[in-house]
Amino acid sequence: MAVLVPAAGIGVRMGGVRKPLIELRGKSVLEWAVTPFLDREDVVEVVVAMDAGDLGGRLGRDGRVRTTRGGGNRFESVANAFQSLKSDATLVAVHDAARPFPPPAAIDACIRLAATGIGAVAGIPAIDTLKRVSRNGAIVETPARHALWYAQTPQVFPRDLFRTGLAHCRAGGPPPTDDASMMEGLGTEIRMVDASATNLKITRPEDVRIAEYLVEQRLV
Ligand code: CTP
Ligand code: MG
Repeated sequence: MAVLVPAAGIGVRMGGVRKPLIELRGKSVLEWAVTPFLDREDVVEVVVAMDAGDLGGRLGRDGRVRTTRGGGNRFESVANAFQSLKSDATLVAVHDAARPFPPPAAIDACIRLAATGIGAVAGIPAIDTLKRVSRNGAIVETPARHALWYAQTPQVFPRDLFRTGLAHCRAGGPPPTDDASMMEGLGTEIRMVDASATNLKITRPEDVRIAEYLVEQRLV
């Protein structure tokens, strides 16, 4: 399996901080995010889309890991990483550099599903009721919550499907904010895999405090 790690964001909601480089209890957020993949022998290649900065720590010492240039949005960063793959891995996983605690069990479940030809997306069932709103914030509808999930990463797919999805997206439409949406509508089944609320994405400054707490309490 090959792992693509979009890491080139500029962290606007964090106040202009490059989130993958934030230090969390002695390791960068990026190193936290990638380590559970490096613990797997079936991971043959990890490409981090990131413009500058050395791969420190374990990432710098593991020959499977290298960087490629970032893109102007997440989709372009993922596409760059995909294009630079060197191995003949038949499965492709995408995992956000800003998500430091991907649960090993969820990684494993996603890979197993993808190996059967089904795309797999880690996530959790929606907790709050969600509202669809108009531009000015007026509620348009309240979709049934039981049918709604939050999508996280990892997201794992057969490589051929992934390639088709990328090409499909290039052909038109706005850039997708996650990977599975590139492939929805292509007729291939993609399923949600129940992960964990601890699989948080560092987005705002308070998320760093929460992440530190999770580490201290040994909740991840
Ligand atoms: N990402 C990327 N290339 C971009 C934008 C985002 O590789 N041009 C990556 C981020 O580094 C992150 C992941 O995509 O690992 C999810 O994006 P997000 O959480 O939105 O990070 P940022 O874009 O950095 O944050 P913000 O949207 O607040 O600016
Ligand atoms: Mg962003």
